[in-house]
Amino acid sequence: MKILLIGSGAREHALAWKFSKSAALTALYVWPGHALSKRIGIALDLKPAASFEELRAEVLRLKIDAVVCGPEQPLADGLADCLSGIPVFGPKKAAAALESSKSFAKEVMKAALIPTAEYVVTRSEEECRTVSLGMLRRTGGAVLKASGLAAGKGVFVCRTEEDIQNGLDRLFGSMKEAASEVVVEAVLEGRECSYFTFIGSEGPSELCFAVDHKRLLDGDLGPNTGGMGCYAPVPWLPKEAGKAVENAVVLPLLRELKKRGIEYTGVLYVGLMWGESGPQVVEFNVRFGDPECEVLAWSDSRDWLSMILSKLGLMKYEFQPAHLRPAVSVVIASKSYPYGEAQDEASFVSHTDLKEEEDSVVFASSILFANETQITTGKGRVFVVVSDGESFGDARKKAYQRVNRLRTLWPASQVRMDIAKLVE
Ligand code: AMP
Ligand code: GLY
Repeated sequence: MKILLIGSGAREHALAWKFSKSAALTALYVWPGHALSKRIGIALDLKPAASFEELRAEVLRLKIDAVVCGPEQPLADGLADCLSGIPVFGPKKAAAALESSKSFAKEVMKAALIPTAEYVVTRSEEECRTVSLGMLRRTGGAVLKASGLAAGKGVFVCRTEEDIQNGLDRLFGSMKEAASEVVVEAVLEGRECSYFTFIGSEGPSELCFAVDHKRLLDGDLGPNTGGMGCYAPVPWLPKEAGKAVENAVVLPLLRELKKRGIEYTGVLYVGLMWGESGPQVVEFNVRFGDPECEVLAWSDSRDWLSMILSKLGLMKYEFQPAHLRPAVSVVIASKSYPYGEAQDEASFVSHTDLKEEEDSVVFASSILFANETQITTGKGRVFVVVSDGESFGDARKKAYQRVNRLRTLWPASQVRMDIAKLVE
């Protein structure tokens, strides 16, 4: 099958790498791609700013069989709607609103009786302040969330009035657009994990769970980020955890969407807080997690492309449960991440230093320049190092050895040193 993969992050780099190993692949195209994913797939002859109509024309001209979309923004902007008639693994705009509008997601969860935190949607800074302070006094905490897309940075978990003020300053300062609505919700207690499932017209098939480390600093301190590292599988979950999420969350969600005339095709990412009473939903994303995708792509030996094509009705695939070896991913980010307010010092890293090794692989994002021998690091989360092993300790050791080698080439970077330290 001829596949087009959309996106240019480390997540799409991992997907390109994963798809390249599939027996179902005859040609892989990437758009916009980046210097490293273009070494795996063929770049479309289309500018990154091309319209969806131009993209559609190119997909038809190249006789591409299926399109897989990595990031949420094109889906929120109606990519799958514009490509209608072409198999797309990624939902149409109406379903993509589960991620692009947190207020919509909460309303759907409430209607479907899906376990989640109580919430209020606010529409001005003053209303947000009053509701948050009220929630803090009543429940001991408040979470402020920009309703629109904010790349994981529009959420403030507050335990004090000062935290609330800091959140309000950020939301109504630099994030005004995403914060035209702010969801204020109660703080959920438990351990956090993410659940991934592939959904097609015949329903969902579980992929697996992973645990991301969302805060910038060791010990889960500092601001929320898109994720600084992750591990999979999740040994502390109960045995039937997947079934529990499917029954309490995924199936009710799909039924509720269907009632509203909305179909869902693509990967669904369910952010969860696992407490004493089981799973509660923190958020939905309509795409793979990043860096969850990278760790899962490496450690899940199943053929994801065939799984995706079967969900699109293009081939048959017998789904088997995942058997993952303990695996860890560690993000190396530029110094100004997550807010990008400082200058970042770039470094050169050679292709040899980024090569796949027996027990580790490096996926990349944010590449400023590249030539035949090296790349230049950009801003944000640049490298994701992934390793697996006999145990999490073993996987961590291998991942951090590779991280430390890369950081000698890029000292002006930041990493968390405690990824997957507390796994049991
Ligand atoms: P979100 O973008 O909604 O996933 O939020 C980002 C992060 O904030 C989550 O991964 C959690 O770590 C944290 N968070 C969000 N909502 C809550 C909540 N209601 N209770 C506790 N933590 C939360
Ligand atoms: N790693 C969290 C996310 O992709 O949203």
